[in-house]
Amino acid sequence: MTDESTSRAGSAVQELVDAAALDATRRGEDTREFEGFLRSRIVGQDAAIEAVTELYQMFLVGMAAPDRPVGNLLFLGPTGSGKTYVVEVVAEALFGNTHAFIKVDCAEFQEHHEISKLIGSPPGYIGHLHTPPLLTQESLAKYHTEKLKLSLVLFDEIEKASEALWQLLLGILDKASLTLGDNSHVDLSQCVIFMTSNLGATEMSNLAEGGLGFAAQAPAVDNSLDDKISRTATEAARRKFSPEFMNRLDKVVVFKTLRPEQLAQVLELELAKVQGRITRAVGQSHFTFRCTPEVKQWLLQEGTDPKYGARHLKRVIERNIVYALANLVATKQVTSGDCIEIGLKPTGGLAFTKAAVVASKQSAAE
Ligand SMILES: Nc1ncnc2c1ncn2[C@@H]1O[C@H](COP(=O)(O)OP(=O)(O)OP(=O)(O)O)[C@@H](O)[C@H]1O
Ligand SMILES: [Mg+2]
Repeated sequence: MTDESTSRAGSAVQELVDAAALDATRRGEDTREFEGFLRSRIVGQDAAIEAVTELYQMFLVGMAAPDRPVGNLLFLGPTGSGKTYVVEVVAEALFGNTHAFIKVDCAEFQEHHEISKLIGSPPGYIGHLHTPPLLTQESLAKYHTEKLKLSLVLFDEIEKASEALWQLLLGILDKASLTLGDNSHVDLSQCVIFMTSNLGATEMSNLAEGGLGFAAQAPAVDNSLDDKISRTATEAARRKFSPEFMNRLDKVVVFKTLRPEQLAQVLELELAKVQGRITRAVGQSHFTFRCTPEVKQWLLQEGTDPKYGARHLKRVIERNIVYALANLVATKQVTSGDCIEIGLKPTGGLAFTKAAVVASKQSAAE
């Protein structure tokens, strides 16, 4: 080594000694808050939460790649496992509104001519002025706030898209640009593009049904079931979608089949949401309600299953709990401060009782 190179090496060592170790995994405060919100609402889908959080962090510090969407995410996995729900929760975390995103139901655009609902018709066509396109610069900006100029777009069930829609989608994923029927351009570089697909759903639910009996007891089988489902979904996607599409994705997330204990957590979240609705109901009685463990078990039996995940849970809660509570409010059988206990009748069906003692203790505590 020459003297010169020795001294250069020496100064490099000097710089390293002075350098402070950095933690490149730590996230900013806004992002941590965002992630915390997602974790408080979404059960068992950590990979999806991480994928969205990484994109959000990158966007916040202005490091998202230019001339393409902030992120292109494909969500695969069994029905009722939270694919659409994750987008709703992200919208709620960012804009306080679960509907603050544009949803394109690809099944509605299967026919070539239906594409005009999405991008509008060329000038002069019948219906030109009557069909406001779904994807415009204005519609993307609809939920922007002073602080956050980010848009969320969901293409649901992309396997059902027509060839014309595919071409549009490829352009969006690659260049973040879309040409409308009137030839104007839409810039989607401030968007996160979510896509969901049920590809491989039948095979996945067969795997889940076959495996769940064991999975509930042995975690080792749980993991191998997840692996099998993940492989089935990814292989189905690779068979169906072109390499040029797959190459434009930032991440493919395969959602996991929710296990019985996770479905029980989802039930708790859904019941808490109903309680929130009661507490926020303007000009109505603000009471609390509580379900016995037997009722929870019954709701889980009725509203969830290995094949449909948590798909029917909300409906079962709505029909059996919410409607009944609404009747009790409307007939003034419950009033503010009451605590309603919901149990199972020995003969079947739900029994609603007013736990007056608990209610008075609670109000004394307040
Ligand atoms: N992981 C989860 N955490 C919390 N709640 C969930 C989860 N998965 C599903 N749910 C509940 O179940 C409902 C249905 O889920 P969602 O609509 O997201 O299913 P999906 O995966 O999109 O199914 P599909 O493929 O049939 O469209 C949600 O609205 C939510 O209330
Ligand atoms: Mg869905």
